[in-house]
Amino acid sequence: MERRHVAVVTGANRGLGRAVAKALAERGYRVVGTVRDPATGAAMRDRFAADGLSFDAVAVDVTAPDAGARLAAAVPEGLDVLVNNAAVTFDGFDLGVVDRTLAANWYGAAAVVEALLPALREGGRVVNVSSGMADEASLPAALRAHFHDAAPERAGIDALVSAFRDGVAASGEPPEGWPRSAYRVSKLALNAFTRHVARAVADDPRGLRVNAVCPGWCRTGMGGPAAPRSVAQGTASILWGTEVPVGGPSGGFFRDGRAAQW
Ligand SMILES: NC(=O)c1ccc[n+]([C@@H]2O[C@H](COP(=O)([O-])OP(=O)(O)OC[C@H]3O[C@@H](n4cnc5c(N)ncnc54)[C@H](OP(=O)(O)O)[C@@H]3O)[C@@H](O)[C@H]2O)c1
Repeated sequence: MERRHVAVVTGANRGLGRAVAKALAERGYRVVGTVRDPATGAAMRDRFAADGLSFDAVAVDVTAPDAGARLAAAVPEGLDVLVNNAAVTFDGFDLGVVDRTLAANWYGAAAVVEALLPALREGGRVVNVSSGMADEASLPAALRAHFHDAAPERAGIDALVSAFRDGVAASGEPPEGWPRSAYRVSKLALNAFTRHVARAVADDPRGLRVNAVCPGWCRTGMGGPAAPRSVAQGTASILWGTEVPVGGPSGGFFRDGRAAQW
């Protein structure tokens, strides 16, 4: 009998994460999704089951120190796809916004990838849901060089993120040349991390593929009702990353299956 594919989707209870979870379940995956509210998770599991779809909710906040371990424990058989989707954005700019944004979008996202990487099975795919807001081209050359040309590893990315955070802590404003957006910095870090992880697993015999994708500006809680793209369009852009073929791209950034500008 063919082995059942397993997918983990963070932020699965609404928006793009929920649509991705449903699409993967419809493709036959056993989907394990983070849903912070247990009652919502149970209701979602029942609704999926009523449609004959497999969904298991884990009440995990990706900022919790044990988030990765709890997700890994929820997929004892291993996994084939990780959609690293959970993220936040806030109005305003101050140290609180910076810390809450970085906790979920950078530190939480990176920890989930690191915890689940060993559990990925042959042909496994990691899809980091990023954003066109992580536009390196609009950064000053020196900063762009730190994020991109220097090809930082995890510690180097953490150091960059800390420099941003420390600047805000000192003056209330970002250091010179940095964007005045914790969300942008978090996704810049996630993109640099995508390249780092792809390099790190390049010779892994499992043939893993690790990419960042941008869903585009979509009509979700985060994107708001004025966004030009539907949830279906954003979902398709994310799902593309789960279907990268054997030997396909790794360490790239894609929108709608086409290379996007870093
Ligand atoms: N929508 C857009 O226009 C757009 C554009 C570019 C990129 N993106 C990216 O696409 C992804 C999905 O966005 P979306 O529009 O679907 O956002 P959304 O509707 O705001 O949904 C965000 C999801 O992330 C979850 N989440 C947030 N913080 C979490 C935490 N600490 N632990 C666990 N789950 C957490 C939320 O759970 P709760 O319900 O518990 O809060 C929710 O399920 C994000 O990575 C976002 O940056 C979106």
